[in-house]
Amino acid sequence: MDFSESGSNFVRLKDDEFDYIVKFVGGRYGIDLSQKRKLIEARLASELKNNGFKSYEQYISMLQSNPAAIDSFLNKITTNYSYFNREMEHYDFLMRAVIPEIAARKKNTLSIWSAGCSTGEEPYNIAMAVDSALGIKRSSWSVSITATDVSTRALTAARKAEYPESELSSMAPDWVKNYMTKLPNGNYQVCDNIRRVVAFSQFNLMDPFPPHMYDVIFCRNVMIYFKQATSQAIINKFYQRTNEGGYLFIGHSESISHSDNPYKYVKPSIFHKVTK
Ligand SMILES: C[S@@+](CC[C@H](N)C(=O)[O-])C[C@H]1O[C@@H](n2cnc3c(N)ncnc32)[C@H](O)[C@@H]1O
Repeated sequence: MDFSESGSNFVRLKDDEFDYIVKFVGGRYGIDLSQKRKLIEARLASELKNNGFKSYEQYISMLQSNPAAIDSFLNKITTNYSYFNREMEHYDFLMRAVIPEIAARKKNTLSIWSAGCSTGEEPYNIAMAVDSALGIKRSSWSVSITATDVSTRALTAARKAEYPESELSSMAPDWVKNYMTKLPNGNYQVCDNIRRVVAFSQFNLMDPFPPHMYDVIFCRNVMIYFKQATSQAIINKFYQRTNEGGYLFIGHSESISHSDNPYKYVKPSIFHKVTK
């Protein structure tokens, strides 16, 4: 019998089931769950119950034969925590260093990738920072922000662009005024001018990258869940997709090994592509 805690929905993972999930998720999505046995059990309990499975064995064989169920599985096992103005120094650096540098090269296009964008706060925040830095020159610039995540649930929330008032506490009052609209239900929605700059799509960072090139790539608090070798391989792929003079931002609690890092170190969590 696999139900180990009487009266609850909790189902304990057998060793081989745990190994299968760790290998499957690590190999296909990069996320290292090897130390997360309790987290898997806690997050998948409702998934088992809602689908009428009594054991992980049944659940896993359904996952193997039903790719559509993978999205729901991913929605459970990914951590989508995000908030506005997270690691504000990055937005400051974007406004004060990156945009003036690009403008000094007489370029008026800006292509940014928010990789692992979760519920949208990061790409909208980037769009607000760009708009605020460009000011009246904004209309003569072409700005595009590609925002990707593997979780369809996070992307649905991101596209909706609706956030409770409590999420706005870290945002400067003039940004709230300029970029957010209060809805009748008391929540706030990102305004159309900002939303139209951001294009969301589902993308797994373990898959080959499309050929598009970016001036700036944000991949913050995503690789923290990956093994070092996986992160390194993804950083090398980001490098291939970064324009000369472009930047990579990672989370402050993440690190890149200095020896294999193709980017030039600027300061903690900020890297520059300079080959000339
Ligand atoms: C903690 S959130 C970080 C959100 C945002 N970048 C920030 O710093 O606030 C991590 C996101 O990475 C996504 N993620 C995890 N593995 C991924 C993968 N292999 N490909 C794409 N996104 C992934 C998760 O779905 C989650 O939304």
